[in-house]
Amino acid sequence: TRTPVNVTVTGAAGQIGYALLFRIASGQLLGADVPVRLRLLEIPQAVKAAEGTAMELEDAAFPLLSGIDIFDDAARAFDGANVALLVGARPRTKGMERGDLLEANGGIFKPQGEAINAGAADDIKVLVVGNPANTNALIAQQHAPDVPAARFTAMTRLDHNRALAQLSKKAGVSVSEIRKLTIWGNHSATQYPDIFRAEIAGKSAAETVNDQAWLEDDFIPTVAKRGAAIIEARGASSAASAASAAIDHVHTWVNGTAEGDWTSMAVVSDGSYGVPEGLISSFPVTTSGGEWSIVQGLEIDDFSRARIDASVGELAEERDAVRKLGLI
Ligand code: NAI
Repeated sequence: TRTPVNVTVTGAAGQIGYALLFRIASGQLLGADVPVRLRLLEIPQAVKAAEGTAMELEDAAFPLLSGIDIFDDAARAFDGANVALLVGARPRTKGMERGDLLEANGGIFKPQGEAINAGAADDIKVLVVGNPANTNALIAQQHAPDVPAARFTAMTRLDHNRALAQLSKKAGVSVSEIRKLTIWGNHSATQYPDIFRAEIAGKSAAETVNDQAWLEDDFIPTVAKRGAAIIEARGASSAASAASAAIDHVHTWVNGTAEGDWTSMAVVSDGSYGVPEGLISSFPVTTSGGEWSIVQGLEIDDFSRARIDASVGELAEERDAVRKLGLI
């Protein structure tokens, strides 16, 4: 029998946590033959609720779930972690300025980065879901100097999946026929879902659709503002779809992208495509053997260039703001 993989999940008692934990425990995160041990981190007030979720996980009798531990202390929660899903974050509340939001989240992601640095396993892989995800990931990464920067990623897979769904509806094809879609930049309203490099059944997606007005006035804003539309309809923010995307992100990272395809992940920039080195920005990424690499050599048209630059500019501003606050 295999040694269980330690998966630490923060914000375990939250909405996304409720959807995510059952999928991890069922084997969908790492594979149907990989036992997992869950390590849940919550704030003290939510530990009881996390215990309730743990009772339900027990009641699901998942054969692959070899244990659950609940903590309100980051150092203990990340001890020995092989995979860390950083979901818990401080949401923006009414009247909160961006600086306040970044500062509150710095107070969460700095100590979590330090705890990962101190105690996580050598093969630790980190996915930040909690918003502002890219910058929270940057803060954690900057406080884990002994962990390779490549192990810190942020989630744009939900945006990627939303873009796949919208494009499949427009083109009248199954999502499985679409390849090489990209989300560039920040997980925010400035993100750029790019179909110019995408393919539908092997042909250019943009040419197949051939509708620039739809692209500009419908597709891009629909994908970028989908989170707000879900809140409007559901009265609560996306949770099961976010959990599903987190499962996809880690599963792809660990198990690899398909030949002839790529995915979208926010990863530490090496300067590719003019994205300043060190920013955690979404790119077209392939994965193999548990490591990612940014797809190289794509030609970027002017329309796409302007949008990528705008979103990356926002990331640079967020980085400068957290620097000014002394968070990195
Ligand atoms: P939620 O409010 O239902 O749950 C968040 C949980 O985190 C709460 O149980 C809270 O007690 C916990 N928490 C807060 N601070 C913590 C800390 N320091 N350590 C451990 N736990 C802590 O929120 P929900 O709906 O589960 O969303 C979580 C985050 O994911 C939010 O920041 C949301 O904006 C973000 N999100 C990101 C998406 C993406 O595509 N990157 C998509 C959807 C949501």
